[in-house]
Order: sequence, then structure tokens, then C-alpha cells
Amino acid sequence: MRRTTARRCTRCDWQAQRRTPEIAGAARRSTHRQAAAAVTRNRVMKSLLLALLMCLPLSAGAQDTTPEALRPSAHFSVYGHGAAATPPMGFNPWNAFRTEVDQARILAVAEFIEQHGLQQAGYRYINIDDGWWLKRGADGRIQIRTSMFPIATVDGGAASFRAWTDKLHAMGFKAGLYTDVGRNACSQAFDRHSPNLPIGTAAEREIGLQGFEAGDLRTMFQDWGFDYLKVDACGLADFGQGSEPVLQSGHQAVRPLIVRRDPVATDRTGVETQYARVGRLLAALNPDEDYVLAICPWGEAGVRDWGGRHGHLWRTSPDIEPTWDSMLVNLDSTVGRELYAGPGRWNDPDMLAVGLGEFDDRHLVNARSHFSLWAVLGAPLLMGFDLTQAPASLIELLSNPEVIAINQDPAGNQASVVVNQGDLQVLVKPLAASGERAVVLFNRGDTATSAQVTPAQLKLADGAPYQARDVWKHQALATQRGALQVRLAPHEAAMFKVAGAPVIGDAKLLTEMTGRIHVAVDGAPDEVSRQSTPGLVPRADLSPSGVPLRIAGQSIPYGLGALANSRFEVRLGKDFRQFSTRVGLQDGARRDAGVVFRVYGDGRLLQEVTAGAGDAQAVPVTVPVDGIDVLELVAIASPQAKAALPPAIVWGDAQLR
Ligand code: GAL
Repeated sequence: MRRTTARRCTRCDWQAQRRTPEIAGAARRSTHRQAAAAVTRNRVMKSLLLALLMCLPLSAGAQDTTPEALRPSAHFSVYGHGAAATPPMGFNPWNAFRTEVDQARILAVAEFIEQHGLQQAGYRYINIDDGWWLKRGADGRIQIRTSMFPIATVDGGAASFRAWTDKLHAMGFKAGLYTDVGRNACSQAFDRHSPNLPIGTAAEREIGLQGFEAGDLRTMFQDWGFDYLKVDACGLADFGQGSEPVLQSGHQAVRPLIVRRDPVATDRTGVETQYARVGRLLAALNPDEDYVLAICPWGEAGVRDWGGRHGHLWRTSPDIEPTWDSMLVNLDSTVGRELYAGPGRWNDPDMLAVGLGEFDDRHLVNARSHFSLWAVLGAPLLMGFDLTQAPASLIELLSNPEVIAINQDPAGNQASVVVNQGDLQVLVKPLAASGERAVVLFNRGDTATSAQVTPAQLKLADGAPYQARDVWKHQALATQRGALQVRLAPHEAAMFKVAGAPVIGDAKLLTEMTGRIHVAVDGAPDEVSRQSTPGLVPRADLSPSGVPLRIAGQSIPYGLGALANSRFEVRLGKDFRQFSTRVGLQDGARRDAGVVFRVYGDGRLLQEVTAGAGDAQAVPVTVPVDGIDVLELVAIASPQAKAALPPAIVWGDAQLR
């Protein structure tokens, strides 16, 4: 979000911001509640009068200066549910076979998945990763390496994967493929000695999408019948002037849009634009929405902020390696991002390393923890080892129905972290059924420790009894009151499903339904400041800097914490009658000027309040929301605010009933 800078009369513009067309529209159209309409009309009159009084000479032509991004969109502008209403589950061969990705190996794994209960447990995407191409033909069409996929051979015609996808479909699976958003693929940069790289001239070896998007996607989805596409990004990153693939393999040099680990040099908008194109083309090719787009720039180029606008899952981190430390790095890339995920859009900390290295059957504690964490975060569950060699212990682990049900819960809430102390983390995922939550108590470290989670952290009524079930031991505990306590071995994660009385009886906290929230604008003023403060994103029940929410010295246990100049879209789906919250500036935020909080319903302004400067208390807001599909919460910092960063604000106790 960039601030509007051209201003004639700041005071005047600030007032004019309040006189939006929506306000007048709200007063005219509102038929829901007489009382609310009257309040709105009063506000309109007040705003108009104030604006008139303060800047009469400008008022006739004064424009609403609310930046475009902070105006209501009146719709939920991220992916529909499509085929990824719950996190995709399946198999990806990359970590097992790399470019030795032949048909027989993948098929053997698919048959194993079918025959050993894993398909029934939910694993249904069988994907091909890097290594399947032969070259791009003179006609511009992409060709398959039929020596590895003999099934693709077509007598007298161009090779086609149609028989492959037909086979998988007949087995009850969905079929996935891999490509790159640039001209070249990752294997051409990092597996340069593989015998299975594309062949021919530099142009023939340009097997990525760039320049061929429409044709390639039509081939893959319409002609070949794939259901899932992973789109990698090495073509935008690793083929710069002087790079090894250019110098040693004769690839054409391209100016990298992604400079790895250098967000300032990376062209974030350029990368997003390319993926947006792929997203639009795939949507057009799949009117039934039965497709999945996996975006794979490894957490670079701000994809964690925009991935959900163009695809169903997006990588938040570098490739997982089968080590404990790598798993933790990838875990941390997704934790705290609970407001970005929901049905149809998932943070992807990469495939499961279960079955490999430090997560094999000799490391079952590690493997269980890794699986528990991915499950509670709502991460895609893509197995990545040669399952034909899988011991019973790993099959049992990967098909645990209770853990999978938590991952696949229809509400699609990503767990948020409620305890973060040294090696101890506690993550809580609200489930769809009222009062049900999943909780993981996790010991990252090498020494045993004790852990607990309180009813308040579980968003359950304090003192009331609740049930807890250990989903690894498949055992219900005795009825609990007070904190749930466990002892954790090194690297152990205990995982429970709990059910009790929700903390606020008849209402539902907004942070119990993060899957319905889309961060449309996060408030970070421009690319550079966003990039220099990683992690300064809106959070559930915490401020963007990760501290508990507080307004005017009062602690606010639940709510959305964000920077001002932010806008949230909340998909109500006409399920609620009333929204209430108390808003204010987060303690510690600079309070040299006020913040305007606006609540919109389907694009109409429902309520506007200003939480003032100084030591202003939280301001209560209650609005009816009957029949409303999309609620929008907008906070706008005064243009008079002096700090470079908009102040942190709180939508405290935000709840729906
Ligand atoms: C990486 C990607 C991996 C795998 C590999 C293939 O960029 O993150 O998951 O697809 O490319 O070369």
C-alpha cells in the first residue's frame, strides 16, 4: 500500500475521507435495521457538516482521498474453494527420485498407496515433478521424454500424457504435473549432470512456461487431463548473466526477477504478475474449478503475502531437507501466517520429509512431530519417499485418521501459536465444530520438558469441564478442568483434540475462524519497509510484532492485531446477525494522531469510529450483519501521523453471533 502524497489541505482531506460515497449510499439503501441507518445518517450529516465547515472552498470538488486499496472491495478476493477446499494430500516423487522420475517408479508408489489404505486415508494426488520433458518442438509444443514415460507414446502422433492421467483417474487418483514460470527449470540449474535434462538447442531446452503459457497450460489440462500443477520459479532466478547454467550449458541469460535471499533486489511485482497470469489462464481452462495451482518460489518475492490471490498453495520456504533443523526452518516460515490461509489457499512449508533421513522409521518421534505440525498448520500433506519400501510403522503414522481429520477440517483454520517460550511451542487450531480445537504441544529441543495449555489459550470457558483426546495414542483423557499438562521427550509433539464450552458462549471469535479472513492490505507502507521487517504481518490474538494485544493498559485476550492502513475481508456467507468489536491503538504504538476504523458489509459502510490519539480507551462498535456475505474491516491512519510505519491497531474481541 502506498500513501497518497498529493494533498492540498491535509485537514480538509482527512475530513473528506469520511465523506465516502458509501456513506451516502448506506443511508439511502439500508433497509436492515432502522437504528443502524439512523446512526449512519447522523454520521453522514456530521461528516458533511464538518467537511463543509473546515474546507468550504474545496468542498465542491473535493475527492474521497481514501487510497484505492483501503476502499471496500465488496467481495472475498482470494481463491474460491475449488479442488483445494482442504489441504491437498498425495505423493510427490522429487525427494525420492529427483530426475529419475520414471513411470514405473511412480506407478509402483501409486499402487502401494492404493493397496495399503493410504488412498482411503485421503492421499489422492499423484504428481510428477521435474525431469519429464524431452524438449520444446519446432512447433512450440512441449514434448515428453517417452523413454521414461512409455505410456505417453502415441503411434504416429505427438506423445501425450492422456493415457497416464486416464490410468490414475481409473485408480481413483488425481494427476499432477510440474513446470516452471520462467523459461527453464530448476533441474537445468541444480541437477545439471542428470541424464534426463531437456535436449537440443538452447531454445529447444526452454521448456518453461514463459512465452508459451496459454499453449502449455491448454496442453497440460485440456489435452492431457491433469488436475494439479506445481509451477516452480528457477527460470526467474538462476539463469542470470554469468551463472553456471548460462556459462556452462549455453542457456540464454535472463535478468533474474528473483534474487534469492535479497528481497530488495527481487522484483516482487514482476514475479507476482507472471503467476497471476498462470492463475487466470488455469481458471479459464477449468470452469469447473477442479484444479490445483501450487506456486513454488520458496517464500521469495513476497509470495507469502500474495500467493493466495493466484493459487491454492504457495511455498513459504526453501526446499525441505530430511533434517530436524531444516524441518524447523520450514515450520517457522509458516507459523504466524494464520490469517493468510483458509479453504482454497494454503501456506506450504514443503513436502513431508517423513520416511527420509531424520524422519525415517528409526526416528519415529521426529516423524510424528513433523506430521503433527504440518497437520495442525493446515499444510498440504504430500508424501515424498519411496513408499514401496515403507515399513508398517510409517504407513500407520501417515494414515492416522484422527490427525488427518484435523488437517482436513472443513473450517480450514491454520493453527496459531499461543505459547512460544524457548524450545516450547503450543499451537492451537480451532476446528469447525463449536468448541472443538486441535492442539499441539511441541518440544523443539534436545532435553525433555513440561508443557501446558490453558483453557483461555484454547479459547474455552475457564473452569468449565472439557474433553481431551490424545490423537496419537487414540485415547480419551479423563475430563479436564484447568490447564492441560504434558511431559514432552526431546523433539516430541503431543497432539490432542479438545472439546468444551467456547470462551464466549453464544458468539464466535473472529480468531476462531481465521480461515474466513483474507488480509487484503497488510498496512506495511511500501515494499522496502515490509521487507526490512519480516514478520510484521497481521496476527490472530497478537500484535504484528508478536506481543499480546493491549489498549490503554488493558489486556485484550483475543482479536486481530495489525498495522493501520490495513483492510481485511471476512467471508461471513450470510451466517451471522451481528458483529462487535472494540478498537484502538495497540499500547506502545505512536499516538500522535488518530486512526479511523471502518466496518463495511458487502461494500456499504456500516460503522465508522475514530480511536483517538493520546491515551484513548478502546472504542466499542456493534453492527448488524444479517444477510451480509463479506464484512470488511479497514483501519486508516491519519495523514498527520508522523511515524514512517502506521501505528499498530487492534480489532479487540472481534466476534460474530
Ligand atoms: C525446487 C523445488 C522442489 C523441486 C525441485 C525440482 O525448486 O522447490 O520442490 O520441485 O525444484 O528441480
